[in-house]
Amino acid sequence: MDRRPLVAGNWKMYKTSGEAAVLVQKLEDYASGWRDIDVVVCPPFVDLKAVSTVIELDEVRIALGAQNVYWEEEGAFTGEVAPRMLVELGVTYCIVGHSERREYFGETDAGVNKKVHALLAHDITPIMCCGESLETREAGDTDAFVREQVRKGLDGITAEQAGRIVIAYEPIWAIGTGRTPTPEMANDVCRSIRATVGAMFGQPAAIQTRILYGGSVKAENARVFFGEPDIDGALVGGASLDPEGFSRIAEAAIG
Ligand code: PGA
Repeated sequence: MDRRPLVAGNWKMYKTSGEAAVLVQKLEDYASGWRDIDVVVCPPFVDLKAVSTVIELDEVRIALGAQNVYWEEEGAFTGEVAPRMLVELGVTYCIVGHSERREYFGETDAGVNKKVHALLAHDITPIMCCGESLETREAGDTDAFVREQVRKGLDGITAEQAGRIVIAYEPIWAIGTGRTPTPEMANDVCRSIRATVGAMFGQPAAIQTRILYGGSVKAENARVFFGEPDIDGALVGGASLDPEGFSRIAEAAIG
């Protein structure tokens, strides 16, 4: 089965809502040629409304994603955002378990798992991040470490849900550093992630699950990653803030 490519931009903590509207408008200028691909932008929470207003006007070629969510339906959880709040803004994807959230905000695999369940219950597609530190890589433990993150993150979901989920493999040492693994190295881990999904949920789910590579993806290097059989697209940080560069990455994913 041919999986539909997906390129997601993680805007991190950049852009006010006014700036975000300008950025997505510029991106729209490139979007007319995008066929047979899902392109997602993930702005900060406070920008979601402004960005959704721009993309709604244009037949939604660009999908809207959030960078985080809380797992409860509602309640006294100061500072948090619930899945149904995202749904109302037109959010259809949500990043969970990004390494920056794990490192700076104490996110755990158990919390990531709760978020995955909450998002699926609201028909938002999780983009669940995993990836090893340099230390883990150098100790030769990458495979075991990433498999464990995937097992814990996806625990308790159904095979049908597993087929709908997106997993982003992002080696921490490649994020924002300009360093990348070779495409073969990245594909080895993505293949192992797919095998883990297969062992948990069966082969049909493993064949459907989309697995992205993330970490210093740029217009100049994207194509070689997309040439790998188990890499179905990219989660792009820094380069997603440049509309021309990001659109070139999307075009590379189309083929
Ligand atoms: P980067 O970030 O593309 O700037 O390396 C990727 C990410 O953090 O998702």
